[in-house]
Amino acid sequence: MNFDPIDFIALKKDGKEHAPQEIRAFIDNVVSGDIPDYQVTAWLMAVCLNDLSFAETSALTMAIAESGKIYRWDQSGLPIVDKHSTGGVGDSATLIVASLVASMGMRMGKHSGRGLGHTGGTIDKLESIPGFRTDLSEQEFKNIVRSVGCAIAGQDEEMTPADGILYGLRDVTATVNHQALIASSIMSKKIAGGAKSILLDIKVGSGAFMENLGQARSLADLLIRLGESAGVNVKPLMTSMDVPLGRAVGNALEVKEAINVLDNKTPSDDPLRVVSIEIAARLSGMCGIEPLEEARLTAAGKIEDGDALNKFRKMIEMQGGDPGVVDEPDKIIPSAGTILKIPSPEEGYIAGCDAFKIGELVRDLGGGRKSKFDAIDREVGLILKVRRNDRVEYGQTLCEVHKNDAVSETEVAERVLDAFRIVSVSPGMADLILN
Ligand code: URA
Repeated sequence: MNFDPIDFIALKKDGKEHAPQEIRAFIDNVVSGDIPDYQVTAWLMAVCLNDLSFAETSALTMAIAESGKIYRWDQSGLPIVDKHSTGGVGDSATLIVASLVASMGMRMGKHSGRGLGHTGGTIDKLESIPGFRTDLSEQEFKNIVRSVGCAIAGQDEEMTPADGILYGLRDVTATVNHQALIASSIMSKKIAGGAKSILLDIKVGSGAFMENLGQARSLADLLIRLGESAGVNVKPLMTSMDVPLGRAVGNALEVKEAINVLDNKTPSDDPLRVVSIEIAARLSGMCGIEPLEEARLTAAGKIEDGDALNKFRKMIEMQGGDPGVVDEPDKIIPSAGTILKIPSPEEGYIAGCDAFKIGELVRDLGGGRKSKFDAIDREVGLILKVRRNDRVEYGQTLCEVHKNDAVSETEVAERVLDAFRIVSVSPGMADLILN
């Protein structure tokens, strides 16, 4: 097809609709490098201003998905499932869910990303395990999924190259936060990953892309429709991200916390455990293995009897990591040089701990990136010692900050206290699962 980028941009600038084959030609030209960045970003901005119809979003999703390698799985074996989180703080659920689903009669071959901005990334977390490899070839990845039931690798460079290019340009042109662009970016990667049942954990709240339930529902509806038109069963789960999900925020600390959950060392109402069980149970329901209520019990049982932890151990071993980490995480995973305890400046009840501010603090401690080329410090982070509705006394520790030298102690203390909200009357518990 004869493709003219100027006509293409002008059409969207004038608020008109592209034909699917034009979108395909645009993506083909983006990947081949035949369109310069300035024309791509002009089109992205026109989309942000004039939006995409569903037909255009679906065409864009499929064009990005098919811009590179598509993983094909033997669908005659155990069901292949996937999960996706829209990005949170203190959220190591992927490590737990992968191990859980593998112990519940499903398979999960998951490609994950690195952290960017205030949110963490699964690959950065896993790389705090000595020796753990995330750069698996397709063959290695599939072998591990076949033998263990789960594997977690970084994005395969040959998958969805168009998304890498578009995302890099969106990141520097204020065009990330647009629903159709977000949805096509997420679903194209999921479609290329080859799973037929996908649970989307859509985070809602101060620490998430979607700040309210209305925005989250509208994104969820679009993702479900995109999944349907690609023959993939997609279900949304909306979970609160006003406060960090786990007590730990920061790469190495989150891996230790995930091991704690898998080792049945957290209470049954621990938010990270609850969300992980819910995701695994809903996937089981989607695959027709068990009804939801029973699947929740099965998932909890797999934590209690050690099956899920064994899957995690096996996955670490097969991906080159030290499997002893599940027995002695504190000994094997490196720790930061200084632990700073932040005391409460008053007595009262915890009403909030702003996930966005905590995520930004951990990023600035060195645990995250401002640009995708930044190096990170996997040891730093924070452990929350109190949660919403807990009573605190004057001087009681609110959290422990694990730091090296990036930020001064005074600044750390000020920023932690700015994130916490302490009130005089018990605020009650807030809902964690929102649908
Ligand atoms: N996550 C993605 O994968 N893509 C986006 O555009 C936003 C969040």
